[in-house]
Amino acid sequence: LLIFNKISELQTHLADKSNTAFAPTISFVPTMGGLHAGHLSLVKIAKQKTDLVIVSIFLNPAQFGKNEDLGSYPQSLEVDIKQLKNLKVDILFAPNTGEIYPESYQFDYDIGYLGTILCGKSRPQFFPGIVRVVYRLFDIIKPNIAVFGKKDFQQFLIIKQLVKDFNLDIKVIGGNLIREKNGLALSTRNNYLNDIEIKTASKINDFLQTAKYEIKNKKDLKLVKNDLTTNLKKYFNLDYCEILNADNLGKINANEKNIIILVAAMLGKTRLIDNIEITL
Ligand code: PAF
Repeated sequence: LLIFNKISELQTHLADKSNTAFAPTISFVPTMGGLHAGHLSLVKIAKQKTDLVIVSIFLNPAQFGKNEDLGSYPQSLEVDIKQLKNLKVDILFAPNTGEIYPESYQFDYDIGYLGTILCGKSRPQFFPGIVRVVYRLFDIIKPNIAVFGKKDFQQFLIIKQLVKDFNLDIKVIGGNLIREKNGLALSTRNNYLNDIEIKTASKINDFLQTAKYEIKNKKDLKLVKNDLTTNLKKYFNLDYCEILNADNLGKINANEKNIIILVAAMLGKTRLIDNIEITL
């Protein structure tokens, strides 16, 4: 594992490699550290796709709101490095904030509809902060493939749209959401939860599975949503629970094939998101 903190050093290394007869293809997995099996599953996908895998660890201040958990977000660089070494990742790019955001860096992109709904509604700085950093990382690394987890499904669609809008020559691949044995979706923020909360948090998956079963069995979507909302509200401070078109997060039309249920819920101070895709 080669570790670079500076853009210039990373780029010199990549330029040297691509000047050889066999220029490597590059997969990129951006992260904010606190790596868990979900991240590692994305690395495994990346490894199957290209010659070289680059993982970034950068806790991106731009995507946190003023009263959010930037200051306490779990960081575990040494353990992360060990895990990346175990998976034989080629390069870790771990820049500091000044490296990613020099004063001259301007980035203006109107995400549009996808940025206004769900997490975009309750966390207005979130997606603008994400596209700001992801565009910068793409520009630095110029990967052939980028792998994003579908736990952050809205982020995944927004990144695909970004790549399309800027006509970037990058293939965006989604990795499936990974769950604990009890069903809880893996998340770095699960580190905030105690044992009792972990048990409670796993109910989100139970409720989603029930809702999926009901939708598969043609229960009316309004009823499914009502029941799911009622169930979730018993245990969580619910931010949203929506059943939408999984291709564009638009409203569901008759005969929809690809459906997704998306949930964001607070358990104490911890924000949990989860989703489940349904193909009819
Ligand atoms: O999904 C994440 O971990 C972050 O939003 C990302 C894509 C690394 C950007 O900071």
